[in-house]
Order: sequence, then structure tokens, then C-alpha cells
Amino acid sequence: GSVAAVLPAGGSGERLGAARPKQFCALQGRPLVSHTACALERISWISDIIVVVSLEHIETMKSIIQKYGHKRITVVEGGVTRHRSIFNGLKIFAENKLQKPEVVIIHDAVRPFVEEDILLKVVKAAKDHGAAGAIRPLVSTVIASSADGCLDHSLERARYRASEMPQAFLFDIIYQAYHQCNDYDLDYGTECLHLALKYCKTKAKLIEGSPDLWKVTYKRDLYAAESIIKDNLS
Ligand code: C5P
Repeated sequence: GSVAAVLPAGGSGERLGAARPKQFCALQGRPLVSHTACALERISWISDIIVVVSLEHIETMKSIIQKYGHKRITVVEGGVTRHRSIFNGLKIFAENKLQKPEVVIIHDAVRPFVEEDILLKVVKAAKDHGAAGAIRPLVSTVIASSADGCLDHSLERARYRASEMPQAFLFDIIYQAYHQCNDYDLDYGTECLHLALKYCKTKAKLIEGSPDLWKVTYKRDLYAAESIIKDNLS
């Protein structure tokens, strides 16, 4: 069956503190979102790639597509939260504006070093289980604070994993999950696997990913990403 991808790129990149959102920052002369889109376009079995951007960046994204010769990208307007942006991307297929795929990959526009190997693994696992996503061991221990700003409790680090990207889903499952979920999920959730599990009772297979899947978030991440891209080009 066919495989398509949705790349949420509609965030404001506040934590980076640059003049423009990080997905539009240039690394070795090419915007981050274009590097990530290229990583997916190199893979022949991925058909349509939806890039979801905020209204104010639709023209920017269209000119990036032109300038860097992207062939398989459709630009879609995002929402105020990541979940709302992803939902808007999925709607393009549900409303038959593009052919509905069997499996949809969801991958952040700010994780440029995604490789075919992990994409194959999550897609295969999504076909077998309904949903799948890349995970990593936790670097920091996760704690909860109480209302007075003191430690409430702390999680046992070895038992938990960081949920990373890419993730993949049978299209009908993830669309149904977004369709059924409530405003609280859309406004405060950040985890698509969770939605598939909660609303469709599907299994979500967890797949160990590489450290290179990390999300470019802070300024130092941009420097790190740029030096990896520079190495890869030379
Ligand atoms: O904010 P966070 O780092 O979780 O964002 C992950 C991805 O989701 C980024 O690529 C960001 O552009 C995207 N996003 C989005 N729409 C939003 C917020 C974030 O597409 N409203």
C-alpha cells in the first residue's frame, strides 16, 4: 500500500530565540525544513509529503519549494498547536484532495537526519500493529513539581523512554483518533501514538531510534546540525 508523510513545521520556534522559526533557518545555505524534506524525498516509496506551516509562512514555504526544486510537497496551513497542525495535514487526505495513503508517516520538520532504515521499521510496524514510533532512552530524569514549586515526585528513569519521531500509522486509525479526540487533547497533547492508543485502542509499537533523530530546539542544536550537514556534504 502507499505511504505518505506529514511534516509539522508550523511552530514559532520560541525556545531558539532567532528572528525566524528554526525550521526556516538556513544551514549551509538551505533552510532546515528543506533538508528534512530532502531526507524524505530521497526515499522512492514515499509519495506525497505534506508540509504544515503557519499562515504567515505559506509564501515562504512555497518559495522554498521553488528555489530548492522540491517535487512532492504540498503546503497546508497549520493550527495553533502541534496536534492541530498535524490534524490539518491529515485532513488533506481525508477530504480526498490528495490520494489517501494506507500508511502515514508523521515526522517533525526540525529532525533533518532521519534515515530510510528507521522509516522502514516504523512503517512496517504500523502495518503490523496500527501505530509505531521511534523512542530513545531518557537523558534527564523526569520529575513533577507541586503547586509550591517543589518536587512532588520523580520517575524511575530506566523505566521510561523519550518519544521521538518518526512515527507511522495506518491512515484510517490516526485520522479517526484525531477526529474523535477532544479540545484538551488537541491543545495540550504532543504525542500522536497516545491518541491512537486512547481513541482506537491500537497497539503502538516502540522502536529504538538513533541519537541523530534529535529535535533541533535550541541555538546550539542549529550549530550541531549545521556541522553534521557540512561533514555530510564534504
Ligand atoms: O514545539 P515542538 O518542538 O514540539 O514542535 C515540533 C514540531 O511541530 C516542529 O516542527 C514545529 O514546527 C511543529 N509545530 C507545528 N504547529 C504548531 C507547533 C509546532 O507544526 N502549532
